[in-house]
Amino acid sequence: MICLGIEGTAHSIGVGIIQERKGTCQVLSNKIKTYQPEKGGIHPREAANHHAAKIAGLIHESVRVTTIDFSDIDLISFSQGPGLGPCLRTAATAARALALTIEKPLIGVNHCVAHLEIGRGTVRECTDPVLLYVSGANTQVIAFAEKKYRVFGETLDIGIGNCLDKFGRALGLEFPCGPKIEQLAAKGSQYLPLPYSIKGMDIAFSGLLTASENYVKKGKNLEDVCFSMQETTFAMLTEVTERAMAHTEKQEVLLGGGVASNKRLREMVQTMALNRGAKFFVPTRDLCIDNGAMIAWLGLLMYQSGCRMSIDNSLINQRFRTDMVEVTWRD
Ligand code: ATP
Ligand code: FE2
Repeated sequence: MICLGIEGTAHSIGVGIIQERKGTCQVLSNKIKTYQPEKGGIHPREAANHHAAKIAGLIHESVRVTTIDFSDIDLISFSQGPGLGPCLRTAATAARALALTIEKPLIGVNHCVAHLEIGRGTVRECTDPVLLYVSGANTQVIAFAEKKYRVFGETLDIGIGNCLDKFGRALGLEFPCGPKIEQLAAKGSQYLPLPYSIKGMDIAFSGLLTASENYVKKGKNLEDVCFSMQETTFAMLTEVTERAMAHTEKQEVLLGGGVASNKRLREMVQTMALNRGAKFFVPTRDLCIDNGAMIAWLGLLMYQSGCRMSIDNSLINQRFRTDMVEVTWRD
């Protein structure tokens, strides 16, 4: 079975085509275009205009680079939520139009669950992980328990990626700032104390963001501030992930989201996993960031397990919670 998935929750519009082979996911193509605001943060309407301008070309390109034809596609899926309304609507409209044109079924999927399932589908030995999902807008620890994907911990304010991007923007760094902060942090050595904010299983970053900005205003070495930010935020993320693993008794940890590219974060989570005798997995970067292939794969899993969606019932849901999903494809 072959599925084409359209992702459009925030900055990126993506189209991916996947094929199922003996229960594993084979990615045939995965094309992404990202909206870059000229200055400041993301404006949902402008991001949606960007997606609307790019989507038709992306769909054609994603088919063209494979050996398949539109007639070989069995299913269309799209990111139903959570995300920014105008972006979600643009992706959903494109998916509906395509499904009607090629006369194939349509299915909407949860973006956060897709980040976890693409790991299970493409990374060998990854079967039942705790996912640390770290992107711009999202920071969640997710695992399968009692027939649902449940959020064991999450940010109470901003996502880790947004925290890094906001800090970088105040310094005049170009978006996305995470990679530049990683480079600066690698040269830092002196740890400057920052708020370590964990409440129960949830975390908060805004106090730490303000404190980091204040260090810069006071003339502290920028490399040391970046180093301290990474050490503190990543320690918080690793702690909550470890507690979720202990609670669920799971033996695997999976990283997802754009911040999963960060080498220091990988190192800290991997060390924690090895100390517990657990396995550590990270999908390739193009499958960690927001992408169409993960949407296609989850759509296929849902369809094959009996889920169906009519066009009338394919409305987007900006606040689509991870634990609202009926998990029909796992025992
Ligand atoms: P979502 O809609 O799921 O929140 P997103 O639109 O933020 O996703 P992603 O591509 O998953 O998109 O993540 C982008 C984020 O990842 C940005 O905040 C960026 O700064 C951050 N990032 C990318 N590379 C690194 C890195 N090496 N270190 C730290 N952060 C990084
Ligand atoms: Fe995402």
